[in-house]
Amino acid sequence: MKLPLLSLALTAVSVGATVPLSSVQRTTTSPNNALAGEYIVEMNNVQGLGGKRAYASTHDTLYRSLRKRGISFDVKKEYNQPGIMVGAALKVASPQDVQQIATMAEVKAIRPVIAVPAPERINQFTVSSPNDSRITADSETTHIMTGVDKVHAAGITGEGIKIGIIDTGIDYNHPLLGAGFGPGFKVIGGYDFVGDDYTGSNNPAPDDDPLDNCNGHGTHVAGIIGANPGNDFGISGVAYGSSIASYRVFGCSGFVSDDIIIDALLRGYSDGMDILTLSLGGVEGWTESSSSVVASRIADQGRVVTIAAGNDGAYGSWYASSPGTGVDVISVASVNNIAIPVQNATVQGVEHAPIPYLEALPLNVTGSRPIYATSTDTTVADDACNALPNDTPDLSGYVVVIKRGTCTFVTKLQNAAAKGANTFLIYNNGGSFSAISVGDYTAALISETDGTFLVNQFAAKANITISFPQSGSAWNYPDDVSGGLVSDFSSYGPSYDMYFKPAVAAPGGNILSTLPIALGSYGVESGTSMATPFTAGSAALILQAKGKSVAKSIRNLFQTTASAVASSKTDGDPLQTVSQQGAGLIQVDRAIGTTTVVSPGQLTLNDTAHFEGFKTFNIQNTGSKAVTYKISHVPAGTAASVQSGSIFAADGPVPLTADYAQVTFSLNKVTVLPGVSVPILVWFKPPQGVDASTYPVYSGFIEIAGLGETLRVAYLGVAASLKDKAVVDNTDEYFGVKIPALLDASGDVQGNSTNYTLVGDDVPSLLYRFAFGSAHVRVDLVEKASTVSATLSKRNWWNWWWPQKPSNSYDKVPIVGTLAEYDYVPRNSDASTIDDNGYNVFQFTDSFVNGTKIAAGEYKVLLRALKVTGNPAEEGDYETWLSPSFSVVPA
Ligand SMILES: *[C@@H]1O[C@H](CO)[C@@H](O)[C@H](O)[C@H]1NC(C)=O
Ligand SMILES: *[C@@H]1O[C@H](CO)[C@@H](O)[C@H](O)[C@H]1NC(C)=O
Ligand SMILES: *[C@@H]1O[C@H](CO)[C@@H](O)[C@H](O)[C@H]1NC(C)=O
Ligand SMILES: *[C@@H]1O[C@H](CO)[C@@H](O)[C@H](O)[C@H]1NC(C)=O
Ligand SMILES: *[C@@H]1O[C@H](CO)[C@@H](O)[C@H](O)[C@H]1NC(C)=O
Ligand SMILES: *[C@@H]1O[C@H](CO)[C@@H](O)[C@H](O)[C@H]1NC(C)=O
Ligand SMILES: *[C@@H]1O[C@H](CO)[C@@H](O)[C@H](O)[C@H]1NC(C)=O
Ligand SMILES: *[C@@H]1O[C@H](CO)[C@@H](O)[C@H](O)[C@H]1NC(C)=O
Repeated sequence: MKLPLLSLALTAVSVGATVPLSSVQRTTTSPNNALAGEYIVEMNNVQGLGGKRAYASTHDTLYRSLRKRGISFDVKKEYNQPGIMVGAALKVASPQDVQQIATMAEVKAIRPVIAVPAPERINQFTVSSPNDSRITADSETTHIMTGVDKVHAAGITGEGIKIGIIDTGIDYNHPLLGAGFGPGFKVIGGYDFVGDDYTGSNNPAPDDDPLDNCNGHGTHVAGIIGANPGNDFGISGVAYGSSIASYRVFGCSGFVSDDIIIDALLRGYSDGMDILTLSLGGVEGWTESSSSVVASRIADQGRVVTIAAGNDGAYGSWYASSPGTGVDVISVASVNNIAIPVQNATVQGVEHAPIPYLEALPLNVTGSRPIYATSTDTTVADDACNALPNDTPDLSGYVVVIKRGTCTFVTKLQNAAAKGANTFLIYNNGGSFSAISVGDYTAALISETDGTFLVNQFAAKANITISFPQSGSAWNYPDDVSGGLVSDFSSYGPSYDMYFKPAVAAPGGNILSTLPIALGSYGVESGTSMATPFTAGSAALILQAKGKSVAKSIRNLFQTTASAVASSKTDGDPLQTVSQQGAGLIQVDRAIGTTTVVSPGQLTLNDTAHFEGFKTFNIQNTGSKAVTYKISHVPAGTAASVQSGSIFAADGPVPLTADYAQVTFSLNKVTVLPGVSVPILVWFKPPQGVDASTYPVYSGFIEIAGLGETLRVAYLGVAASLKDKAVVDNTDEYFGVKIPALLDASGDVQGNSTNYTLVGDDVPSLLYRFAFGSAHVRVDLVEKASTVSATLSKRNWWNWWWPQKPSNSYDKVPIVGTLAEYDYVPRNSDASTIDDNGYNVFQFTDSFVNGTKIAAGEYKVLLRALKVTGNPAEEGDYETWLSPSFSVVPA
């Protein structure tokens, strides 16, 4: 699980070519990004012992019992927030002790400490003056899209509301952010949990000053919430009247472990923040990480918690980001701004209008250059996905034109760069302009029309050159194609436990905001990182307008008054799946002004095996006149979340079908008197005749249309049983060889018995991937003669006939020892690198996970992964893979 700051936009990654085995990094990865040996131990509530002292001494009681059991440990952090989290972050010497700790009476839960990697960014640039040729004045289109302009016009700016930002700190010296720190200033306080030099691998150096003048992410986030209006840039924060506290959890670079994020959440809670906002997170897919759980509990206590939904839309469904997965937090998706800043390139030699390219800054290319197209066929699907032909000329003097599709942008650019190319235009394959990830290459996206024109000119051997003016070529491209639609990069849910993720959407693309003065003062960034503070600021407007007592119903208000987002601009196309847009784009003026209150705002129907097809919602009329409401069903597109005939998730944009659920109501029309609340019963029937092997995620809205007010309740389910879904990748599609596989000491697939000394690099490595999440994964060493049968992808048909199976059959499988164990693991992505979660490796050491040395002998490796909704004690609920045999021999 990766938890970066979410101002990164990844795009269109898919495995066209297989990933070479030689590229595999043979070092153990933790599929859930857990730090070795570090755990958060949560203690049982000791009510009855009374008061704070009882809790304080609980920590000592815990440590005493640990010592009594011979468990050695270091205390990293203590938590003492009764009702939310009482416990400690511990470094445990022997991982075997974890099972023992879990069974202790005073322990409620034990969860791994998760590493949160450093922020990565694209499409970021700084601007120094409103006259900078590279930007166009922000017309506050984002405020218009969401009704924030109307709320501001009514004089509501978030006054009296406190917002805690958990991020990289804030440059509070910025004039738009109040130019000061402490009581009386805009940034009223906060805490630095880490210090500038913290990298995640060294010790944090906390202090009272959360100043950020080296990273900038948190300052950008703070400007979206709080930038003062009246500046030359024409920008203002959504809640510029609110007060901000800054909780700094990242150093200038590097990562943070989530025990620190929890510390920050608890500090914000006890400091009395009305709203906590976190523009960070990474794929987990489950609702169970410590930070998800703590964030959700804080939301339960009546504080608003907004968390980014993630920027992994390219990887498709079932890729929800944690801690946004916290059950009661507001996970925020991104919608594209209705205008995008672009640059124009100019064409010489042939008559053609300037070519807009998606870049905030001009490409750093001087002079004009001829073009070279890697294919003259404009219908090619996998342009430049493989090495270019040998007769390709030296491309160093050209602008190389490549079509989007099939493989990653970087793969295409690498292949062209291998022939000397250094300047690239990638043309679209039908989609719209959206941020693309091109690494360090000088490359930008252009439209399909302009790309086709250039390729045809090249094919006709026309005398055509392109140049990139370095000033005066910026403009606001009215985004008729994707403006107002969900950003491609915005992650898809739902969670593996079928929670509704994301909850809502807000503008998050190409947002101009503040940066630290030392980093240029102003800049443009994109991501769910930007949509999240927008939502936090919007929540502040609601709290000011309606009173803090509505905090617990803010998610409902946002959801029921949001506007549903289409999947395209083509008439007749379905609405975007709720698993990407949540309940829609927030409409803050409607959330404040509505006289009809509908709750709940979301209905979760689960899978077919745990189907909850009967639901109730309430319509309350808080107005002064009776209102007649018409109730109807508005379906959204059904997401074919898994590719047909495959075990792999469909990449984003996930294909949508018009196979809708059937929905019936107890009343299709109801008149509600003032002050009265009426329950409406709803019966759902999942879509019929769909291909269950595509795990169709169906969703939509129940529309409640009253007098001048239309509200909606969103619903979501999957028309398949998740227990049927293959978890372990047992194909050769990714590496070209069948996995799971044991790699030998030289990185080749090990066939028949091989000898290892387990000294230095003379060790085997297990290479494996997950096509779906698993709540429990274990790698064990078993005897060579083990008879455990491989059950990969075998359906448990006998479950239906024989539900009373012998219990605890999982623990009865004879093993020699455990090598690794992971809980709540997400699926892998189809990215080609381990850093982007493409695959997992377990590399042997000379010991089991508990530190005991592995004796000489003949063995196999047993990999087991629990299927979603499976029973952890039931061997039959696991997918199982048994390796070829090998020998451990004395050195
Ligand atoms: C920007 O340009 C306008 C006129 O074009 C000028 O009045 C203003 O002073 C300039 N601002 C800055 C910061 O250069
Ligand atoms: C191509 O166009 C450039 C200017 O655009 C001109 O200088 C050059 O002579 C032309 N070459 C040919 C072969 O027409
Ligand atoms: C543009 O490229 C030139 C030459 O490669 C380099 O010296 C210069 O620093 C670059 N400018 C910017 C703004 O990156
Ligand atoms: C950029 O090019 C488009 C046409 O492709 C044109 O409409 C627009 O005015 C140009 N803008 C600038 C600043 O050059
Ligand atoms: C869906 O069903 C599974 C299996 O019973 C359960 O664990 C999960 O919590 C349910 N999800 C929701 C949102 O109720
Ligand atoms: C493994 O052994 C079998 C026969 O025992 C043989 O057919 C096969 O080719 C061997 N595989 C490798 C990779 O050596
Ligand atoms: C493995 O080790 C055993 C005993 O140590 C030896 O008999 C055998 O030849 C070795 N096999 C290989 C392939 O080296
Ligand atoms: C570690 O695991 C091995 C293999 O399961 C077992 O034999 C050994 O007793 C364990 N050691 C400790 C200290 O628990």
